[in-house]
Amino acid sequence: MNNPIGIFDSGVGGLTVFDAIRRKLPAQDIVYFGDTARVPYGSKSQSTIIRYSFENASFLVRQNIKLLIVACNTSSAYALYELKKKFDLPIIGVIEPGARKAVEITKNRRIGIIGTEGTIKSGAYEKAIKRLNENCEIFCKPTPLFVPLVEENWIEHSVTKQVIEEYLKDLMNSDIDTLILGCTHYPVLKNMIREVIGNEITLVDSAESVAEEIMRIHLFENYEKSNSKAKYQFFVSDNPQKFEVLGRRILNLDLEDVEMVYFAEMWVKGR
Ligand code: DGL
Repeated sequence: MNNPIGIFDSGVGGLTVFDAIRRKLPAQDIVYFGDTARVPYGSKSQSTIIRYSFENASFLVRQNIKLLIVACNTSSAYALYELKKKFDLPIIGVIEPGARKAVEITKNRRIGIIGTEGTIKSGAYEKAIKRLNENCEIFCKPTPLFVPLVEENWIEHSVTKQVIEEYLKDLMNSDIDTLILGCTHYPVLKNMIREVIGNEITLVDSAESVAEEIMRIHLFENYEKSNSKAKYQFFVSDNPQKFEVLGRRILNLDLEDVEMVYFAEMWVKGR
């Protein structure tokens, strides 16, 4: 089945997930939708996130995708269960793979989680970890300022370093040996986070973990791989130019022809 994989995120951050997947599956066609008109999701309520996620998924399903990846941690935390009930195709979020990876890695069973306010408030990572190993101790910290810092391209900036130090100081006193980067944007700050926390704590990149999960499912479901060059399509709900610029920074790749999708169209055609 050579249909594309569909990925959606609240905006540009999910390109970290796109990147991890395209590296693992270089021949796989991918359709990406970034909801740039309604970002951020991290501070919104569950019912709003579910509604947005339904609309995004409906749009991608209409592109004949064979698998849907919910790249956004906040959507995965709040809407994955509802999406799975509504849509009849395999759907993978980023929480479960990230939680599994952390439980595999931790030696002292003390795991830190950083994410948006919504993701942390939902307790989704905590629940997923506890399901896998109830003896793990979890230490959470919402770190909402990381998202605008990445969007501002302050990736190597001293202010960013200060913000990371301030946010992570309590976690670093908690004797954690594993830290989950529970937000699409955080892998972009990995080097700076590593500088701040040192080498003793293992970072779990949820983008990498979801790509590994897809490889597992690919083998399991025996999806065919094509030998031809992969086709990538990018859709956004606002400002394709800004997406192209930020996307180039995140991927180190030119994103040509980012297309605009209008919500009215999504509503009518997506239902
Ligand atoms: N994509 C979101 C997430 O991973 C981060 C940006 C936002 O708040 O929308 O939670």
